[in-house]
Amino acid sequence: MKNEICELIYNREIAKSTFEMAFRSENMAAAALPGQFVHLKVNEGLYPLLRRPISIHRIDKSSGVVAIIYHIMGQGTEELSKKQSGYIDVMGPLGNGFPIIEGKKCAVVGGGIGTAPLLEVAKNLSDCDAYLGFRNCTYKVEEFEKSCNKVYVTTEDGSVGYKGYITEQLEKYISEYDIVYTCGPKVMMKKVVDICASNNVECYISIEERMGCGIGACLVCACKIKEENGDWHYKKACKDGPVFNAKEVLFDA
Ligand SMILES: Cc1cc2nc3c(=O)[nH]c(=O)nc-3n(C[C@H](O)[C@H](O)[C@H](O)COP(=O)(O)OP(=O)(O)OC[C@H]3O[C@@H](n4cnc5c(N)ncnc54)[C@H](O)[C@@H]3O)c2cc1C
Ligand code: FES
Repeated sequence: MKNEICELIYNREIAKSTFEMAFRSENMAAAALPGQFVHLKVNEGLYPLLRRPISIHRIDKSSGVVAIIYHIMGQGTEELSKKQSGYIDVMGPLGNGFPIIEGKKCAVVGGGIGTAPLLEVAKNLSDCDAYLGFRNCTYKVEEFEKSCNKVYVTTEDGSVGYKGYITEQLEKYISEYDIVYTCGPKVMMKKVVDICASNNVECYISIEERMGCGIGACLVCACKIKEENGDWHYKKACKDGPVFNAKEVLFDA
């Protein structure tokens, strides 16, 4: 997988310490699938050495623009947030995507920054509801409203939407769905997977392991995958994932 030097279109703060960045790459916009990610070199210097993986949030094939949303976690994302113009070194699209299965009643369930990769899933499904959980401030809800039948929003402090966790809303309506697609904090995804399993609903999850190379060469991103006999083995989140059928994934206790 080759990297590309892409023109930065914008990089703006959309919520506290949360940025949306758009760059131009006709190749990536043409090839990208919902749920894939890009691996970004955050600045021109040597440090930080490693690229940072960020999910693709929006794909505009007509203008050749790809957008991402990221939260400042440490030095890499902090560096990224300072970029205001010029070019950015992007590798991608990487990994597999969410399987878009038509003719089913679907829900996307996201927590915080994990809502970002679910927008393209919702846009590509004809019958989809969205469950979006945030801590205390929301973003991009209106984008989901354009593509989904119903959008449920929760905040932990009750400032927007229902007060509480998004999984409480999902639990109420889970019997309506055939397929759930989820991304977010591990504890939320584990709960979503349990709710789906108890209700016989197919579930796909996007996992966020720490990554090195992003292309299957370094094994930094190894994650545990279940076998039918109860045993398990490692797969690479960057190449075999980041999206897996929830039945396969072994969550650490
Ligand atoms: C496939 C994939 C898609 C991702 N998509 C997004 C996205 O759309 N938006 C977004 O904001 N972030 C996303 N992430 C997480 C993002 O890559 C990390 O937040 C980022 O690399 C942190 O870099 P940093 O240098 O700022 O922080 P670091 O200094 O590297 O780390 C700061 C803190 O963040 C934690 N952290 C770092 N990387 C990860 C990770 N991969 N998963 C969980 N915790 C981590 C560290 O343990 C540490 O506590 C994604 C990760 C993966 C693997
Ligand atoms: S990040 Fe190197 S193998 Fe996955």
